[in-house]
Parts: sequence; C-alpha cells; structure tokens
Amino acid sequence: MGNILAIETSCDETSISVIKNGDTILSNIIYSQIKHHKKFGGVVPEIASRMHAEKIHSILDLALQEANLDLDNIQNIAVTYGPGLEGSLLVGLTMAKTISSVKKIPLIGVNHLVGHIYAHFLSKKHPPFPFVALIASGGHTQLIEVQNHTKIKLIGETRDDAAGEAFDKVAKFLNLGYPGGPIIEKKAKEGNSNAIKFPKALLKEGFEFSFSGLKTAVIQTCNKNKNLKVEDICASFQHTVAETLKIKAQQACTFTKSSDLVLAGGVFANQYIISYFKNQLEPNHINVHTIPPVLCTDNAAMIGAAAHYMIKHNIYPKLPLKSTPNLKI
Ligand code: KG4
Ligand code: ZN
Repeated sequence: MGNILAIETSCDETSISVIKNGDTILSNIIYSQIKHHKKFGGVVPEIASRMHAEKIHSILDLALQEANLDLDNIQNIAVTYGPGLEGSLLVGLTMAKTISSVKKIPLIGVNHLVGHIYAHFLSKKHPPFPFVALIASGGHTQLIEVQNHTKIKLIGETRDDAAGEAFDKVAKFLNLGYPGGPIIEKKAKEGNSNAIKFPKALLKEGFEFSFSGLKTAVIQTCNKNKNLKVEDICASFQHTVAETLKIKAQQACTFTKSSDLVLAGGVFANQYIISYFKNQLEPNHINVHTIPPVLCTDNAAMIGAAAHYMIKHNIYPKLPLKSTPNLKI
C-alpha cells in the first residue's frame, strides 16, 4: 500500500511521520512543546495551537527529508481528527487537507486513541487477536477489547482523572514540574514504594477507573505529615497507579477470555509500571505487550500505522473531516 504521510497535532507534540507498508517507520519527527507550557504547569491550548502553526511546515520538511521522499511518493495522508484540543487538531487537519487537495492524495482521518493501540503494529511482530488494550495517557484511561481490525470496543474508562493526569497533578502539587510522569518516575527510583499506603479506587466496580481520589489522598497525606520524603511519596503513588491499572486490566483479560494485553499511551513509557505488569501478569499466563517509550507518548507514526489498517479494511471516516475534540472509540 506504499507510503503514508501521517500528521499528529492533537495536544502538545507536533509530529509528522512517513510509514511504509504499515509497519516500517521511514521517519517519525516529534517536536515537543513542553518547554513552552512548563512554566504554566500544564498545556495552554492557545500556545499549543500557535506553536503547531509555527512548527508544522519545518516538521513536514524534516519528515520527508529523513524518509528521503517527496510528496509525489506519498500514496495516502493520515491525520488525527480527535480527540484533542480543537485549535491544535485544526492545525494538523488544515495541513493534511491542503496537501490532499493540492496533490490529489486520499485523506484518512484517524482517532488518536486508536492510534495509540496501533503503535504496537509498527513492527513485524504484532499482538495476536483478540487482545485487551489498556490506554493510559494524559487525557484518557480506557480498557478496550480488540477482536480484530474492525471490532474495537470500549469496555471501561475513568470516571474522572486519567492516570497520566494524576501523575501531572501530583507532580504539580509537589512542585516537581510538568509533565509529571517522567519526573515522578525518576524521583520514585530513590524512594520506597511501600512507605505510604494510598487507596485503590473502584476495585469492585467493573472496568471503570477513578484517579482523582488518589490525587486527593496524596495531597491530604502530605498536608498531615510534612516530614514525608518526596521520593517515598512518588514511589508509593506510582506503585498504587500500577496496582490499580493492573488489577482492572487483569479483570478485563479474564472477562474477555484474552491472554494478550497491549499497554498503550504515555503512562507506559514508565519502566517501573511496565515491569510491574510483566512480573504480575506473565506468571498468570497473560502476555504483556510493550513498546519503546517514544512510541508510547504522542507521535505520528502510530497514526500512520492505524491508517494503514483502516485503508486495508475500508473503515475510514467519510470526508469532509471535522476536528472532533471529544471523539470516542
Ligand atoms: O499519550 P500521551 O503522550 O499524550 C496524551 O495523549 O495525553 O500521554 C501523556 C501523559 C502525561 O500525563 C504524562 O505525565 C504521562 O503521559 N507520562 C508518564 C510518563 N511519561 C509520560 N507517566 C508516567 N511515567 C512516565 N514515564
Ligand atoms: Zn496520546
């Protein structure tokens, strides 16, 4: 099916990639805007869209250069059309639509969350169907039953904060900076994960998660006891997130009779969490599929991989594509 040019601008990474035959990454350029948002303690939508608009043309040039191709060698264009920040999505969509109409290249709209799952198809070895995907990112925590390329069903999600959001909020409370995940992971290495017992929410209630209570518990515990070591707070918090995610994912595998679990989204860049999953689940005959951190966090290669299978199975959305900030799976 040739080369797909993929564009991802849903949040604070401007990323463009060229994917060959669905699984070979010819380029995957990712410009992170973190330094522009850091001082505000989170992503500022207005700054995000402005930065995407400033950077996207040079990112396109870099992606084509690295792939050693020009637009005449591109057979399809893939673009994230949701979920995400409206202004950010519009920048990527506008570029994709423009190239598509000027060069007469078909345009494929991709759901960002589906893209996170397809990051696992960027190699010759794919997770076998059926599998359960657990997506844990900055805005979503979802359990998804994936029976095949055309049957992808949400089976549970968070009622409030996402797991990544909890990392970001706890880091903000502890004055550690943004984004919280990598900083907490680093601090946690020096701490004791059993030092503090934080609550695990909603363990008996199906496949729904809740992380806002955990964040509040961290704040209350720290306010009550000012002598706690920040490293111990980070390690104990991180461990509680890992345990909660793992318990629910295991239940979902049992429920769907699936022995393969795919871990997707920024939170699974966390090496402690993925080791915990492997150590806990592999002895229980669940294969835990992980990918390198750069493919867990936002990138356009995963959008290209998803588009490849959408084209193959003829399941892409109708044109004209509209940015859809609340797009669901
Ligand atoms: O998937 P992603 O890059 O973007 C969204 O689609 O939201 O996920 C970003 C989230 C942030 O909340 C960030 O703190 C978290 O992933 N994250 C991590 C780590 N790296 C990024 N969480 C825990 N440990 C990490 N090492
Ligand atoms: Zn994402």
